[in-house]
Amino acid sequence: MRTNQPQTVYLSEYRVPAYLVDHVDLRFELFEEGARVHSTLAVRRNPESEDTSGRLELDGDSLVLEGLQLDGRDLEPGQYENQGDRLVIPEVPEQFGLTVVTWIEPQNNTRLEGLYKSSGMFCTQCEAEGFRCITFFPDRPDVMARFRTRIEADRAGYPVLLSNGNDVERGDLEGGRHFVTWEDPFPKPCYLFALVAGDLVEKRDSFRTCTGREIDLRMYVEPRNADKCDHAMDSLKRSMRWDEDIYGREYDLDIFMIVAVDDFNMGAMENKGLNIFNSSCVLASQDTATDATFQRIEAIVAHEYFHNWSGNRVTCRDWFQLSLKEGFTVFRDSRFSADMGSTTVKRIEDVTLLRTAQFAEDGGPMAHPVRPSSYMEISNFYTLTIYEKGAEVVRMIHTLLGPDLFRKGSDLYFERHDGQAVTTDDFVKAMEDASGRDLTRFRRWYEQAGTPVVTVRDEYDEARQVYRLDIHQTVPDTPGQTGKQPQHIPFALGLLGADGQPLALKLVGDDAPPAEQRVLELTEASHSFEFEGVAARPVPSLLRDFSAPVRVDYPWTREQLLFLMSHDPDGFNRWDAGQRLAVDVIESLVDAGEDAEIEPRLVSAYRHLLTDEGLDQALVAKMLQLPSEAYLIELAAAPRVQQIYRARTRVMNHLAAALREELLACYHRNNGGAEYRLTSDDIARRTLRNTALGWLLEIGDAEGRVLALRQFREADNMTDRLGALRALVNSDYHEDREQVLDAFYQRWQDDPQVVELWFSVQSGSTRGSLEQVRALMEHAAFDWKNPNKVRSVIGVFAGQNLAAFHAEDGSGYRFLAEQVRHLDASNPQIAARLVTPLTRWRKFASVHGEQMKAALETIRDREGLSKDVYEVVHKSLA
Ligand code: ARG
Ligand code: ZN
Repeated sequence: MRTNQPQTVYLSEYRVPAYLVDHVDLRFELFEEGARVHSTLAVRRNPESEDTSGRLELDGDSLVLEGLQLDGRDLEPGQYENQGDRLVIPEVPEQFGLTVVTWIEPQNNTRLEGLYKSSGMFCTQCEAEGFRCITFFPDRPDVMARFRTRIEADRAGYPVLLSNGNDVERGDLEGGRHFVTWEDPFPKPCYLFALVAGDLVEKRDSFRTCTGREIDLRMYVEPRNADKCDHAMDSLKRSMRWDEDIYGREYDLDIFMIVAVDDFNMGAMENKGLNIFNSSCVLASQDTATDATFQRIEAIVAHEYFHNWSGNRVTCRDWFQLSLKEGFTVFRDSRFSADMGSTTVKRIEDVTLLRTAQFAEDGGPMAHPVRPSSYMEISNFYTLTIYEKGAEVVRMIHTLLGPDLFRKGSDLYFERHDGQAVTTDDFVKAMEDASGRDLTRFRRWYEQAGTPVVTVRDEYDEARQVYRLDIHQTVPDTPGQTGKQPQHIPFALGLLGADGQPLALKLVGDDAPPAEQRVLELTEASHSFEFEGVAARPVPSLLRDFSAPVRVDYPWTREQLLFLMSHDPDGFNRWDAGQRLAVDVIESLVDAGEDAEIEPRLVSAYRHLLTDEGLDQALVAKMLQLPSEAYLIELAAAPRVQQIYRARTRVMNHLAAALREELLACYHRNNGGAEYRLTSDDIARRTLRNTALGWLLEIGDAEGRVLALRQFREADNMTDRLGALRALVNSDYHEDREQVLDAFYQRWQDDPQVVELWFSVQSGSTRGSLEQVRALMEHAAFDWKNPNKVRSVIGVFAGQNLAAFHAEDGSGYRFLAEQVRHLDASNPQIAARLVTPLTRWRKFASVHGEQMKAALETIRDREGLSKDVYEVVHKSLA
């Protein structure tokens, strides 16, 4: 906590470490009233450092220093300086052993960084800078050491003691205590250190690697969750196989462990050999988890597992390089999910997140490049830009090189940098060296923030039978960055003839054989492309499969969009055409009167989707979702939220009323019966059924109500049970609403993950008011110390119940500011994330913007603001 301004860290100030640590010997004495940490480091001067001062500086945070010895001799007070966040020893030899003893209080650690307690167990989160909350250490990822860890604790309370690597020794101690010693043979940065101690049940399985090694797989969970491990275990095995098949990466330790923890700031953490997960991202059963949760678990288990190579074997030199591991790993997990389910649906989901949230970030006050050049608090840079845009950047390299050269590049990257801490530039260099391609311009994607706008205009020359595209790109200014250079953009496209058939594309002056799809490479501000032999004006299908993270500006007509919706061979663009059409219709109603006509062709397009069973049902399920309010707001220049909300609701009601029969038929056609399976077909069926139900309840349909109540009672899985609950909660059947909410809570109150769903259905409901959200915060199950609860009530309210959050009287803004001020004292990381919606104040029309700004100012003016919230609030107000 601080009152003065936090320091800014700059990439340009990066220096190699003055001292390296080869080995770390840790001994943890865990007690109820605290923990004593004995750390012995084998330190030597870094021959590559220019710093020859002989001064050693170690990072620390909230530590009580109990002992300090250099080569076995106690250091006198004059021989070192404990500055709290830094331990300085002004004169050290070239090579020495350093023993540091610290006392910490995990039971009082509400920040959930370092070593803390979560429902009775000890656990750690060290990325990015949590290790310094455990002991004094050079807490930076380019210091890599071998760790040996001995954990001592009460045997009855903490029978399971885990750390990275292999368990090499265990035994009993006096007073009912015991110990286990772990050794990790791989040098690693301290952010990958982990420790767990608790009363956990163990689930075992095994995996035989491509070279025939048998890996011991273990999951550790609280006894009540013992029956919720199968899906994660299964996902893990599929990830291990996939990484061998697709990237040639084999697992390297003999044991791989996963632990589920209830109190966790993020989704999960890839600690070497000991991944720690937020319970909500790993535990699942048919009865308690929705399809979306199952899919999220599969993706996150894969993500953390894939980090073993992209992150652990090859790690980041400094935190500016975070996307080196995160962007690449998100790209990898996204391909994995695509391979496990529907490729098109996965792409739609990724792009939806990117366009709704990352584009908003890129256009807001916290916009930063994929490789930032400065930060105050690194925790604030675990962003959609680093993760999702970073993944898009890697994906574009994949598109430019093609799968084979990309694989050559990743092989070279892993081989060249195994055991090293490197930069995003090293990654690009490996891709260049393996492929022979010049990616000089492409590197701008790492350096320039902001979402490029690609403007496309076309002209058809009937006499020459030539179709011309004029493409122009600009990259908008972002805080601290103006006058940007053009980006290297792979722009995939196709052209459709009047009959809906794809044309063979032949560029004037280009020898490439005609193809139905081309990836144009944009590297300049403007390009013109001429396609020859075009017999009639075609309909362009642009940026297929969303080949680059850009906004496309093209004057679509509704005819063209309707045409693409039913003819584009690119599934993604077919969906996107539907989204654009719906956006256009909704936007046109924002300023129109209540009785303005709603585009009849939208109704017929949706009717077609609902009734043509020959269509890919997984795609249909996606196409039926109207663009979210958040996306509509993102697209608008000065959004008026209430009007957007009303226009969108009007369209939904209109569609539901006009298509009532079709919706009922769709509901019945997809009304399962069969056993619960997680295939993309079955998931599509459940999505369709629950979408239909939601629309029927939206218009208060009596038959829909009966169906929902029955589905709620009879569902044999959480997807359908929650689908019915959500439909009723979002309806005007107030009595039913209260009844099902009660029944649901009574049945599931002992399961925190289900209670989180129960919270979010209410806080995210557009029928819910701020008063109801405040009431949820008074509920016995709400817990300020549990990030999942905070997110599912406060985060979901501000992120999804947009009409209430943006209430005209500013109450939603004041509410959020109040919660942020409250939370900042206990958990700054979560507090800083919660602020996000307010940071966008400049985008909104004046009254709202001013109220949001005023709310931000009440946070700014709080005494002792954390570094995390300080950075976000001050940058937003700057
Ligand atoms: N590396 C983790 C991942 O798999 C995220 C850890 C983030 N931790 C944090 N304190 N911000 O993405
Ligand atoms: Zn990650």
